[in-house]
Order: sequence, then C-alpha cells, then structure tokens
Amino acid sequence: MGMVVLTMKASVIEMFLVLLVTGIHSNKEMAKKIKRPKFTVPQINCDVKAGKIINPEFIVKCPAGCQDPKYHVYGTDIYASYSSVCGAAVHSGVLDNSGGKILVRKVAGQSGYKGSYSNGVQSLSLPRWRESFIILESKPQKGVTFPSALTYLSSKSPAVKAGETTKAYYLPFLPGTTIQPVTLIQGLAVTAAEDSHSTLPKPSPSEASATSSPRPRPVGHGSGETDLWSTTSYASGQNSPGANPGIQRPDSAGAAFQKPVGADVSLGEMELWKPGSALLDAGFVPKEELSTQSLEPVSQGDPNCRIDLSFLIDGSSSIGRRRFRIQKQFLTDVAQALDIGPAGPLMGVVQYGDNPATQFSLKTHMNSRDLKAAIEKITQRGGLSNAGRAISFVTKNFFSKVNGNRGGAPNVAVVLVDGWPTDKVEEASRLARESGINIFFITIEGAVENEKQYVVEPNFANKAVCRTNGFYSFNVQSWFGLHKTVQPLVKRVCDTDRLACSKTCFNSADLGFVIDGSSSVGTGNFRTVLQFVANLSKEFEISETDTRIGAVQYTYEQRLEFGFDKYNTKPDILNAIKRVGYWSGGTSTGAAINYALEQLFKKSKPNKRKLMILITDGRSYDDVRIPAMAAHHKGVITYAIGVAWAAQDELEVIATYPAKDHSFFVDEFDNLYKFVPRIIQNICTEFNSQPRN
Ligand SMILES: *[C@@H]1O[C@H](CO)[C@@H](O)[C@H](O)[C@H]1NC(C)=O
Repeated sequence: MGMVVLTMKASVIEMFLVLLVTGIHSNKEMAKKIKRPKFTVPQINCDVKAGKIINPEFIVKCPAGCQDPKYHVYGTDIYASYSSVCGAAVHSGVLDNSGGKILVRKVAGQSGYKGSYSNGVQSLSLPRWRESFIILESKPQKGVTFPSALTYLSSKSPAVKAGETTKAYYLPFLPGTTIQPVTLIQGLAVTAAEDSHSTLPKPSPSEASATSSPRPRPVGHGSGETDLWSTTSYASGQNSPGANPGIQRPDSAGAAFQKPVGADVSLGEMELWKPGSALLDAGFVPKEELSTQSLEPVSQGDPNCRIDLSFLIDGSSSIGRRRFRIQKQFLTDVAQALDIGPAGPLMGVVQYGDNPATQFSLKTHMNSRDLKAAIEKITQRGGLSNAGRAISFVTKNFFSKVNGNRGGAPNVAVVLVDGWPTDKVEEASRLARESGINIFFITIEGAVENEKQYVVEPNFANKAVCRTNGFYSFNVQSWFGLHKTVQPLVKRVCDTDRLACSKTCFNSADLGFVIDGSSSVGTGNFRTVLQFVANLSKEFEISETDTRIGAVQYTYEQRLEFGFDKYNTKPDILNAIKRVGYWSGGTSTGAAINYALEQLFKKSKPNKRKLMILITDGRSYDDVRIPAMAAHHKGVITYAIGVAWAAQDELEVIATYPAKDHSFFVDEFDNLYKFVPRIIQNICTEFNSQPRN
C-alpha cells in the first residue's frame, strides 16, 4: 500500500516535471521564433582584418569611410587575410566608400600579393601569406545559411580602434640577405619534366627549349606599369624598404610598401623568388600571423602578360574524342606557357556545341596547375559547332566583373574551331571587338575544296578578326600539329601593346563634322576648312568597325553631306570631304546642331563614342543653347571651333564641359591647321581618362 502510494506520488511528480520541462521547452521554442525572425547581418569596423575572423565564408556589413588609406589592404582581387575586409571590398569595387553588405570567402594562401591602385584604394604588396580571401557581392542564395555572428580568432574585441591595432611587428628588411632568384627557365623546365608522361604529341627537344625561353622582361623601372605610376607621388621613392631597416610600427612599414611593385625592380621580381624563409626575410611579416605550416609554391603569374583570357573550345560531335583530347592538351600547354596567376594572366574556358557553357571563369582557377587539373575534367558537349553564338555569349557574360574581369587587363578571346563553324561569326565577332575584346581565331583542319560549299560563311576567320596582317588568326593544317601553335599564340596574346582590337581614341568614335557654309566664309576659306576636316580625319583609324566619319554643312538650312555608314575607308572619306561643295547663305548654328543629332548621331552605334566637331566663322542667327544642351544630354562630345568673327561665348555654350578643352578660337582661317594636333590630343586625353572595360 505504502509502496503504491509512493509509486503514484512518484509518477505524479514525474508527470508534473515532464509538463514543467515541456512547458519551458515550448516557451523557449516560441522565444526563439520571435527572437530570430530572419538572418541578421553582423557588422564590423573598417579596420577588422579577415584573418581575425574564423568563419570560412560570411556576409558582413561594412560602415562608410573604409576607403581611408589607414586601413591597409594587401593584394589585388585575392587579398591576404592580413588586409582590412572592408578596405579590400572598396578596392575590389564591390563596395564604394558609403559601405554596405559583402560576401567574404576565404581562399588558400598565396606566395605573393601584388598591390595596385583601384577604386580609390592603393593596395600594398606582400610576399607570402597563409590565408587569403576574396570579396563577392552579397546575393541571397537559396539554401545557403550564413552566420549571424562571427567567430573571432582571439577574445579581443573585433572593434579594435585604428591606431591601437595588433601586436604585430615587422621583420626588418635585410639588404644583405641573399635571395636566389628562380628564373622562368628553371620554372618551366620543372613543369615540362612533370609532363613527360603525356601520350600526346609533344614538341621536339629543340622546340621545347625554345618554349622555355622567357619573354623579354622590362628593363629598369616597372615599364609594365609606367602609365599607372608615372605621374603620381610614388616616384619620389620615399621609404624604400632597404632605406628603412629598423621599421617597427605596422603603419610605417605599410608606408614602405606603398611604393608600387612595378616601380621597384627588387619587389617586382619577388614572385620569382624561391618560396621559403628567404621570401619572408624580404618582406615585413607581422609575427603573429607567421605560419609554421609550409605552403606549396603557387605562382603569381607572369607580370609581363597581364591579360584576361577566354578560351572558346569546340565541343561539337564531329570533332571526335581523340581530337577533343588534343584540344584539352593544347589548353593545358598554353596555360603552362602563359604562367597563370593573379598578378599575370588569368584564364577561363567556354565550351561550345549547339550552345555555349562556361567551364570555368577567370577567377575559378588562378594558377596553371589548378587549371591543368580542371581542364583534365572537361567532358565533350557534342552538338553543332556554333562559334558565333559562343562569341556572343562571351561578349555578354564572360568578361563581367562578377566573373573575375579585372578591368585593367586587356580582354582576349581565343576561339578554336574544328573545320568551320555551323553559324555566322562575323557580326558576333565585330560586337565582341567593339566591346573591347581582342579576338583570336585558330582554325584547325579547315574545309577542303569539295567541302567549301558547306561553309556557312566563307572566309569567316578573316572577317571575324581585326584586319592586321594575320596577327589575330592561325590556320593549323592538322590537329596533330596544333602543339606548334602554343608558343606563337602565347607570344601574340601577351604582346599587349599590339592588342589593337580593343578600343583606342583613334578607332572607336563616330565623328561628325558640322561645317558652316555661310557666305561670310568665302570659297577659298571654305577649301581651308575642308582641309582642316581632312587633316583631322586622317588621324583616325577608319573602317566600318573602327572610327566612322560623317559630315553636315549648314547655312540657314542644313544638308547631310555623308552619313557614318556611307564610306568606310580613309581614301574614300578624304575624297568625299574634298568633294563637299560650298553652299553659301546664313548661319543657323542651333538648327544645324539639331539636324546633326537627328541625321548623324541618331544613327551612331551604341558602343561608339559620339564626337561632334563644329566649325563656324560667325555668330549664329538662332539660339544655340537648347540644341547644345540636347547634344550634351545625348552624350555627344562637342568641340566648337570658331574662326574670325565667331563669338567666343557662343563657342563655350556649344562646347562640352570643360569648355576650355572643347572650344577653340582661331583669328584667321590660315591658322586653323595649328589646332589639328591640339584637338586630337584633347580627344585622346579625354578618351584615356574614361574607365575602360
Ligand atoms: C593640312 O595638312 C597639310 C599637310 O600636312 C598642311 O600642309 C595643311 O596646312 C593642313 N591644313 C589644315 C587647314 O590643317
């Protein structure tokens, strides 16, 4: 009895306890649901370094003002984890100085980081680091959860104030330390030996040694990057590492690195040094971040060949498996010869059949070894050989910033075609070139005589590329001879000075002349004006795909002398200018500008720079202000050239801002010729100051 009562008691108590616990539990559940309705983005300060955060991938919110140079950033595209997360985000262009959310992903350490100037931030160089990170735009992804709170390396508050920073100190630079440079020849010799098991045709020993010869390197001060650095204060050479042996404070050590790599030979060659302790001796490495685990050497890439390269490979059914394998071997060989790396060339691959698909983008594999492994895994798509469609795809998608396009490096696309494409390539290639892509064609085993009838677009390779004496095309007789193209191709794609297919101030404009034919000019002076127009035109590269020229003459009335699509060679243009007949009449400059907008510039191609050069000798009868505003509003860059009785104030209204660069006054017609060089120079200076693709 007593037992029963006891047991009952116990079960009542037990039940009570269970109820109590569940009650608490469900209360907790509810609290959780209320408390955590959605993902909150953790915030950090500008000075927080990626290395302090343990999470391999996270979304974080940066405050405004992280562009400040006191938040040091090391590297370009791939940043050493010793960098300010938010500073790197500004440098990479994902954020601007007003802050915002970013996605940070940790990646492997590199054997060197190259500084660069980008988006208002000067990043610094660092020889070697145990961990890196990249910055991506924070896009909400389905099924991926990010931490709402970050895990920090030490118990130290993440909100370290600037100045108070880190216990880090820097090793002094020891000028006496001997560092063995590894030459390109040695580097390539090693990789060639690794490859000797390959069953595919390889270059003969003599060719192999030819392949090993390094491309000429710039002599002296950073010739590769002079345009970036020549005008800045870096030239002063302040704080060169060797001159400051005893630097202790991180901030001043950072300053020592502010000298761009390209301007300093010893730093510029750093990536060629043997990895190991010698490298660390050469730089300033905060002690706390020193890693004992040794990293495999990863190349930074050949700094003399900084290009963003897209390979378009033919995966059509007709190519067959054996040839497809040769094609892959070719890609691997090219990747190796190029020496892929974040400070040199980057390479992605698109395979096309019926449709194109990106195998990997520019930023997927950033060294030749990883590329080799990835190329190995590519499987053939099959289908037709729609190269034109693939080129359009590359123009639209491949060279976007999110896919790793670096902006400063020329865009190059190499199209491999087995036989001939099954669609048209000319138009797609033209658009690619006009968007700044340097397009190369390699055709292998082209059509033989009785196959020519099947070719969709005869002479397609020559139509697709820039007409520069075969520089952009290769015709290979047999797949088994393809390997011989590796070196010539590498040489050409790295010859960045000759990559003329991308836009320049001379080849990318629709240039419209608006010529005053009023009575006050007179026949003789009108001839001089035409000479002037011809002399300006001569400076440009003229073709259907390069600069095009049009002309309007006006008095009270207006007439189209020739539109942009009328002539597409220089001799034809010069002839047409010569044939323009003097009209004689009044001077309605405002109406003429409107007419030019309508008749010339409305037919301008969207990716051309619209330039208007207006030449007048007197004050307009009508108001020029509204037409001029319309021109500026439509993106027509307007130069106003006034002669003799022209009104300076009117010229300044017509001209694009700043007027001093876009308006010119000449006292007499005979002095017009003096302004040709200056106008051309201003056109080019303005062009070069614009951001490039
Ligand atoms: C045009 O160029 C020719 C040849 O260089 C020169 O003699 C002439 O003076 C120039 N005229 C004008 C108006 O620019």
